[in-house]
Amino acid sequence: MILVTGATGTVGREVVRRLPADGPVRVLTRRPDRVGDLPEHVEAVAGDYGDAPSLERALKGVTKVFLLTNAVGGGDDERFLRAVRGTDVRLIVKLSAAAVANPAADDAITRWQRRCEARLRECGTEWTLLRPRAFMSNTLGWAPLIASGRPVSALYGTSPNSCVDPRDIAEVAVRALTEEGHAGRAYTLTGPEPVSAVDQAACLSRLLGKPVRFEEWDVARARAAYLRRHPEHVAEALLQSAEQQRAGAKARVEPAVAEVTGRPACSYEQWAADHISRFADGAASPQQGWAGAGRHPG
Ligand SMILES: NC(=O)c1ccc[n+]([C@@H]2O[C@H](COP(=O)([O-])OP(=O)(O)OC[C@H]3O[C@@H](n4cnc5c(N)ncnc54)[C@H](OP(=O)(O)O)[C@@H]3O)[C@@H](O)[C@H]2O)c1
Repeated sequence: MILVTGATGTVGREVVRRLPADGPVRVLTRRPDRVGDLPEHVEAVAGDYGDAPSLERALKGVTKVFLLTNAVGGGDDERFLRAVRGTDVRLIVKLSAAAVANPAADDAITRWQRRCEARLRECGTEWTLLRPRAFMSNTLGWAPLIASGRPVSALYGTSPNSCVDPRDIAEVAVRALTEEGHAGRAYTLTGPEPVSAVDQAACLSRLLGKPVRFEEWDVARARAAYLRRHPEHVAEALLQSAEQQRAGAKARVEPAVAEVTGRPACSYEQWAADHISRFADGAASPQQGWAGAGRHPG
């Protein structure tokens, strides 16, 4: 049995879609009533990182886990790893972040991910670490603006980021969960080229056949925008992270997606083409449905 956490989110949903149907899969969610109709080999269980008995129940009969947490600075990883002790789990594939490998990155998000990685390495269960760059899907946050003809914005809009398709992250996760040879490995996952926010806006404009205006944020406007959506420590971390991007720390392309999957990483152009209807109708919320992955992106 493979347990997928974060299964209703951007990456976890793609992991569930790609796991082979010949083995049982369990998805952990705080709201099983909202997951909809799952394929026959997939079951949903109620679970919350803050509720130890729910984790104990979710881990019964599980041998491998896809672990994703997102409460920056919190102890969800520690709580989950405590629940794993004494179970049959023998491999945990953990979603981390590329910045952990940059010694100059010292923001609260990166420090938290480094701490989570350290706890996993110490826990005595085999592990694989997935360290993605920015998700291409982050630009879905622009969808309502673009659909209503308003400009999109970012801080340091011409700075490069070798952003990655979440479907590629999921594909690597599934390989790590189902093939031999990935235990003890840390994969930095990027797209095939560095792309800036200005490039992304131009790409969306081409695909939509209408202008998408880009307006550069200054630091004050970026801070205000981040604070509308995040607590202060996360907003400050995002500002520091943008400084790293401006300094060029996020431009490097890594070969791991191609090496693990045997095909090139998906480009932003391809990701955007596959999701362009969301920018046309303004739907920023995650796609529903659990249908199979279909063709490989890229
Ligand atoms: N976005 C980026 O550019 C980027 C880049 C690098 C790394 N990352 C990392 O990627 C991760 C986020 O991935 P994502 O965007 O795929 O996630 P997401 O779409 O935000 O989904 C979050 C998932 O976590 C689950 N969850 C939240 N709180 C929970 C709790 N208390 N107990 C159990 N489950 C809980 C949610 O499940 P329910 O609501 O169903 O319970 C949901 O499935 C973070 O670790 C982040 O640091 C992101």
